[in-house]
Amino acid sequence: MKGIVLAGGSGTRLFPLTLVTSKQLLAVYNKPMVYYPLSVLMLAGIRDILIISTSSAVPVMRSLLGDGSKLGLNLSYAVQEEPRGIAEAFLIGAGHIGGDNSALILGDNLFHGAGFPESLRRSRESLDGCTLFGHPVPDPERYGIGEVDSEGMLVSIEEKPPRPRSNNAITGLYFYDNQVVDIARGLAPSPRGELEITDVNLEYLKQGRARLIGLGRDCTWLDCGTYDSLLAASQYVQGIEKHQDERVACLEEIALRMGFIDAEACYELGAGMRQSNYGRHLTEIAYALD
Ligand code: G1P
Repeated sequence: MKGIVLAGGSGTRLFPLTLVTSKQLLAVYNKPMVYYPLSVLMLAGIRDILIISTSSAVPVMRSLLGDGSKLGLNLSYAVQEEPRGIAEAFLIGAGHIGGDNSALILGDNLFHGAGFPESLRRSRESLDGCTLFGHPVPDPERYGIGEVDSEGMLVSIEEKPPRPRSNNAITGLYFYDNQVVDIARGLAPSPRGELEITDVNLEYLKQGRARLIGLGRDCTWLDCGTYDSLLAASQYVQGIEKHQDERVACLEEIALRMGFIDAEACYELGAGMRQSNYGRHLTEIAYALD
């Protein structure tokens, strides 16, 4: 399975924070935002990942993450100049996906929970068509909203409905079989001029091949697209890291746990940042986890 992090857009809701930097490079507590979606793909066992961002952000992302080899990944980069919709990721990423399945994650989505990695692995293994991930929200009119039958198959999807039929939001993580590229190629722009991910999902729904996995209460899902949600995400990560002796989206630790890198490599990466708590943590766990 190939991964895509869509980290484009101009982050206008965060102005002036995003006047000269990309939203996905802003801090969420102690690390750049893009670490969080990247960690999700890594936890799903995906190592071939395309990061799509604006032309000004791609060089910064590249100097932050390089070709991914330090994390045992194969990272590549592509530009989405204008925000022409989430589904455009499959046109930009067609060459990267090739004949494989793909997982797309939005660059401002944060997922965290004890059962989440296992749920990712199971969904990846049982993928047939598309698998979306739902999470209950208090403000469903802001999201794509899904309704499922007793088998967990989607029976309706509505994008930002004024009168939502459920409070089950479709999060910014999507697993697709290889048909997604052709479906995206056949899309027409919506009235707001974008290739809508909801239209891709509706095509799978029509075929009866769209599943929604409820992430439930043991998984936290946050997006970081507004001042308040950005702050809430930082506070959430601070709370977990300070009080639960656990790290969220610590990429080097995940790479070690997933077997992408060895203890020595993890230790060295930590040693390079040992002035920080993040770096010291890596030097402490590197051999303990081995
Ligand atoms: C997008 C999708 C929406 C989804 C949301 C999750 O909305 O269109 O279906 O629920 O991401 O973050 P946007 O954030 O682009 O308004």
